[in-house]
Amino acid sequence: MTKHAPQEPAPADFLVVSDDRPGPSRRSVLRGAVGVGAVIVAGGVIDLSARDKALAAPDPGNTTVPLPTTTEPEQLHLTLGADPKTQVTVSWAAPGTVKQPAPSLTFSDRPLSGENRGHVIRLPEPEPLNQKETLVGPRSVSFTDGLSGFTTYHYHVPLDGLSPDTTYYYQVTDGAGTPSVAGGNFTTAPAGRAKFRFSSYGDLGTPTSESPVNVTGFTWGAEGSNDTCVFEVDSTITASDGGPAPLFHLLNGDLCYADGAPANTPSVWRDFSVNVSRSAAFRPWMPTLGNHEYELGATAKDGSASSTEFWNGAYGSGNYHARFLLPDNGLTNYDGNRLRGMFYSFQIGTVLFVAVDADDVVLVGAGGRSGGSPVTYNSGITVPAGVDNATFEYTGDLAFKEKDVSLVPTGPQPNLQGLWLEKTLREGRSNPSVDMIVVWIHHPPIAASETGSDMGIRAAWVQLFDDHEVDLVLCGHNHCYERTYPLRGFDPPSGTVTEAFTSSLDGKTYEVGDTIDTRRPTVVTTTPKTVGGVPAFNTARGTTYLTMGGGGASAANVFATDPVTGLPRATVYVTTGGADAVEDAPWSAARDATDAHGYSYFDVDPGERPGETTITFQWFQIPTVAPGTSITLPTTPYEKFVFGRHV
Ligand SMILES: [Fe+2]
Repeated sequence: MTKHAPQEPAPADFLVVSDDRPGPSRRSVLRGAVGVGAVIVAGGVIDLSARDKALAAPDPGNTTVPLPTTTEPEQLHLTLGADPKTQVTVSWAAPGTVKQPAPSLTFSDRPLSGENRGHVIRLPEPEPLNQKETLVGPRSVSFTDGLSGFTTYHYHVPLDGLSPDTTYYYQVTDGAGTPSVAGGNFTTAPAGRAKFRFSSYGDLGTPTSESPVNVTGFTWGAEGSNDTCVFEVDSTITASDGGPAPLFHLLNGDLCYADGAPANTPSVWRDFSVNVSRSAAFRPWMPTLGNHEYELGATAKDGSASSTEFWNGAYGSGNYHARFLLPDNGLTNYDGNRLRGMFYSFQIGTVLFVAVDADDVVLVGAGGRSGGSPVTYNSGITVPAGVDNATFEYTGDLAFKEKDVSLVPTGPQPNLQGLWLEKTLREGRSNPSVDMIVVWIHHPPIAASETGSDMGIRAAWVQLFDDHEVDLVLCGHNHCYERTYPLRGFDPPSGTVTEAFTSSLDGKTYEVGDTIDTRRPTVVTTTPKTVGGVPAFNTARGTTYLTMGGGGASAANVFATDPVTGLPRATVYVTTGGADAVEDAPWSAARDATDAHGYSYFDVDPGERPGETTITFQWFQIPTVAPGTSITLPTTPYEKFVFGRHV
């Protein structure tokens, strides 16, 4: 629906009402918005008045802690539709296990007030997450978490027909007898060739129980629980360099590490979402799937009921899909599940953005895993020891081609993501309105930090990045910052085997010290040009890979060096399960061994004519933030580069 056409016929499953229909009264709106505990951030108010935080507590382990039974809207966040100029989805959640009585959203292109009550959209009754459905229109989704047994409620309103480069204001309410409300605003993407800023990092996690942003009162696990993530979110609200706030944020996977607290995944997601909401209620956050989004649960791999398999919804990512209604790639998997939101693309200005899910191709392994002992959870489900829900090839089959060291979609069920990615990149590169292509993935194919590079991505996708001249590839997973030189093609076999194994790719047996083809990327140049006094690389000649997994999770900025050559040395996972090889990494241009954490801004300038787009990239360092403490974000970057195809 559009702001000008509130009387359009409504789809059958929701009701659009005109401005004078009963809605939340302005009085109740104001009471909710300024209530005790409200957090005022740039552009609006997030209501934390129902904060249920008790005494700070450590991770409760396998004990499931209660969720709230209140219904006030929280965890507000925005995502882009397939056309970001005209489509933005507003999402929110109830705090816990009770659905909102009568949820609705009110929006307008002018601030909401007594004189401007906006357009009201009422949501239908919740339906359980069903990834076999084609999702149309506003919807309420419930998801029953497999191990806690808790059902949580999530609300999504995809707005369509919006005007480009226009600010919209919205409020949502639970529709209770005494309604609670929260709200925000957003600006749609500009039309045509336009300047804009976006930001990106991965591996965020949840605030500790000592942070004022933590709402559950618990610290969740060691890897993802951190207070750096509070300041990472701050960096997307107010730009620390004095520039504009980002129009949107790319979140490069491993969002909250709920899989590390399997008895309490809804609570972990809640702490993550409330922290992120401080920004995401005002600009879209676009995630991609990381290995930690795949959780243990109580269903079969396709999401159907099972007493012998332990996936949390289809492929284990039910919590993610209950919370994010992402652009639709239009694909249905071989098991009948739609692949909406697993991988997707959108264009803003002269840049095509492409999100892919590396869990489909990584050799290091992804998917929920149990420990060494069986555990019986709150839901009554007992998960045995040794469960390993591998997600490799979940969208179809790949075959290894030794000739060009590649993994290609093959057979009667060819890998759907690989086919989609090739088509998306080919069409993007031939689209005259697209100058630059930015891909974001969780796992890095090319990184030299201790958590390494993954040969699965190199074999499945890096050739596609080369063929279609992808300009930038943004990654996470490795909790650090690293930048490569422009890369194109690959070198003769350059890896050295560090443990004996039989390869899942070529079937050969390798001994320690053997040479192995790791598809090591070829460096195009190590010498930047200069644009406006800033070092610059031509991305038409080579793709630059940025590892930005320093969003907050535990530090991993450990980098090895070849003792003989003195070059950086990378670990490469070269077979299923992740056996190691190493390669010298002349492709590694910059590594931050001082601070694992940080954040980025990307300023897109379309130039005067087609082909002239540049993206100015800045990376800012953040030290690891001790629980409950505060820092000031840096004003100057650790690195600044210009990337473009005609620099
Ligand atoms: Fe990861």
